[in-house]
Amino acid sequence: MTLGSLADPAAEHARWIWRNGELVPWERATVHVNAVGHASVAAVFEGVKAYLAEDGRRLLVFRLDDHLRRLADSARLCRLDLPYTPAELGRAVLDLLRANECRDDTYLRPWAFPAGIIREQLVPAGVACETVIDSWPFRARPPADEGCRAAVSSWLRISDASTPPRAKAFSNYHNGRLAAIEARTNGHDWPILLNDRHKVSEGPGSCVALVRDGTVITPSLTSGVLDSLTRATALDLLADLGVPTEVREVDRTELHLADELFFLGTAWEILPIREIDGLRVGDGKPGALTRRLAETYRAVVRGADGHRPEWLTELPI
Ligand SMILES: Cc1ncc(COP(=O)(O)O)c(C=O)c1O
Repeated sequence: MTLGSLADPAAEHARWIWRNGELVPWERATVHVNAVGHASVAAVFEGVKAYLAEDGRRLLVFRLDDHLRRLADSARLCRLDLPYTPAELGRAVLDLLRANECRDDTYLRPWAFPAGIIREQLVPAGVACETVIDSWPFRARPPADEGCRAAVSSWLRISDASTPPRAKAFSNYHNGRLAAIEARTNGHDWPILLNDRHKVSEGPGSCVALVRDGTVITPSLTSGVLDSLTRATALDLLADLGVPTEVREVDRTELHLADELFFLGTAWEILPIREIDGLRVGDGKPGALTRRLAETYRAVVRGADGHRPEWLTELPI
């Protein structure tokens, strides 16, 4: 990737950003200070990964169409008129990867927010939208990841009856943020949030699953979770591997009795949980099924075994 410079050298950025149908230099992709704040109340986004293929000759964007369809769904739920179709944004993602000369793992964030200066906190429906795609390099989770320590949060997950978690809206992340801060303050790595029925929902940026007696169990989509593509991917891959799965309401104490526990999401990939609420999960090391799923996921996203090519959008490099 061609990188520009920033005052903070750790904050690498790509040279180009896609904005409203054009590639614009990163430095010129600005908005007026009056345009931030209220506009973000209704902003929606996606997090997508392009992986360097195992053969080193292609970038493979994982489930691009599905991510962009979910962006359209989020915009609909937030009453935003997204001016581009998922197919148009799919082409824009590839244009951006080409323009930035990406040759390695790249995170892409397509997003949309009410355009111009919005003075009304209750951003009205149907306002004009800006659509942006930015990108930056990421490092994939190492195979020997030891996992993290999680704790159930005292903050409840937002609910479909108040601020629907089904929409991937920036404003939803304040909920996960408070939970993440609480977890860190109490010496854990990440929180797991319960929903308004006090059943397990998800992490602040990922879904969650447990293993009990060889079955992988994950909360249902009506548990106050994002309709995660990694969760859907994992359920399909586990079926391919012949591993039984259950999608249902999950009690907090099921987490405590789990043989294995893991987070799953685009950003975190398959992240083992080695401790929950101060209790060791299994033998405190990533479990066999978690490792098997993580390895399978890793192979699929890099096109290593030719499995599920329909999930991969190829860009020769
Ligand atoms: C709150 C939340 N739940 C779940 C997920 C996992 O979704 P996906 O697997 O589509 O990345 C994410 C990540 O985007 C998230 O932010």
